[in-house]
Amino acid sequence: MKQFNNYPNCERKENLKFESKVVHGANGVDPITGAISYPIYQTATFKHHGLEKTDPYNYSRCINPTREELERTMCILEEGERAFAVNSGMAAVSLIMSLLKPQEHIIYSDDVYGGTYRAVNEVLQPLGIDNDSIDLTDLELLKKTIRPNTKMIFIETPTNPMMKVADIEAIAKIGHEHGALVVVDNTFLTPYYQKPLTLGADIVIHSGTKYLGGHNDVIAGIVVVKDEEIGNKLEIQMYINGAGLGPMDSWLLLRGIKTLALRMDKHSDNALKVATFLRNHPKVEKVYYVGFPDHPNYDTTKKQTTGFGGMVSFRVDSIETVNKLLSKVKLVTFAESLGGVESLITHPVSRTHTEIKEEIREALGITDTLLRLSVGIEAPEDIIADLAQSLE
Ligand SMILES: Cc1ncc(COP(=O)(O)O)c(C=O)c1O
Repeated sequence: MKQFNNYPNCERKENLKFESKVVHGANGVDPITGAISYPIYQTATFKHHGLEKTDPYNYSRCINPTREELERTMCILEEGERAFAVNSGMAAVSLIMSLLKPQEHIIYSDDVYGGTYRAVNEVLQPLGIDNDSIDLTDLELLKKTIRPNTKMIFIETPTNPMMKVADIEAIAKIGHEHGALVVVDNTFLTPYYQKPLTLGADIVIHSGTKYLGGHNDVIAGIVVVKDEEIGNKLEIQMYINGAGLGPMDSWLLLRGIKTLALRMDKHSDNALKVATFLRNHPKVEKVYYVGFPDHPNYDTTKKQTTGFGGMVSFRVDSIETVNKLLSKVKLVTFAESLGGVESLITHPVSRTHTEIKEEIREALGITDTLLRLSVGIEAPEDIIADLAQSLE
């Protein structure tokens, strides 16, 4: 079995800035051929070198060089020790949830991606793993909710779609005092803007489908950990569930990551402009955007992140306005997902958050007049002009 941290050819490139790390990855250039674009090792299996020899690669469900390059790259970017690339963000969520056992308890952000909510309630709960879904921006509430058997705190920050920002460092401290693992879904900000492991979290996960891939052309997930024991448990689980990301998809993610810094800056600049436009529009009642100084968790954002990202949620004045906007947008596309170069808009109640019970959604503010916009990297004037004409 591959040993923990067994990344012998992987320099951590600590002397480089993030923008250089994303371009050059772990090995970067293929050590065998010198290929600048890391090769896609499209093979199911590998030749053994002899009965007494230990082979670096054996079978692609367990280990594949292209996936390994991606995993090493994510270790460097998230400043972790071990990474796993899997075939969706939900596979990443499922992988880390496999660390929980019956009779244990998980606390998770009250407004999470619907699929995560479903995994907790439809997979963990029937196994006898209890849960509490709470507002993790309220640390006193967290302290009251934590139990002796709480083994995991799952933070999504900013949350999807209400854009609440939880204090990772403070939650990690509370979680660790009680023996709980702290997991952060870092999909919205990516390690370019937020590094949960350096703030005290134990595990970072991503829907790689979003900003890491960046082009709406691949479904992928990432898990990064810093602890040897957890890494070993996840590795065995990965061998068993067979969720490892295929070589072609691993390569697509590696290619997307090369421009992550550039794209995130553009998404972020555009989002501020679009959020400001929306805030001043008479048909928009409220804008949820972490970059506004009057956002309730702005201080936490400033403390733990270096940028605001490209996500903006907003509430319009009526369901008629929702209907009109979604049918009139031309440049912005009515579609699920986020984090790609194209601007996408969705209606959480009817699309991404259908699994969440109505009364819970209503209490969180996820109502039928709420829209979630993933601001792309097009010219901001064009995005704003399209929203303006569709809101007319
Ligand atoms: C924050 C967040 N986490 C996880 C996921 C699940 O990712 P995937 O769709 O790649 O399985 C999503 C999907 O939208 C998401 O938005």
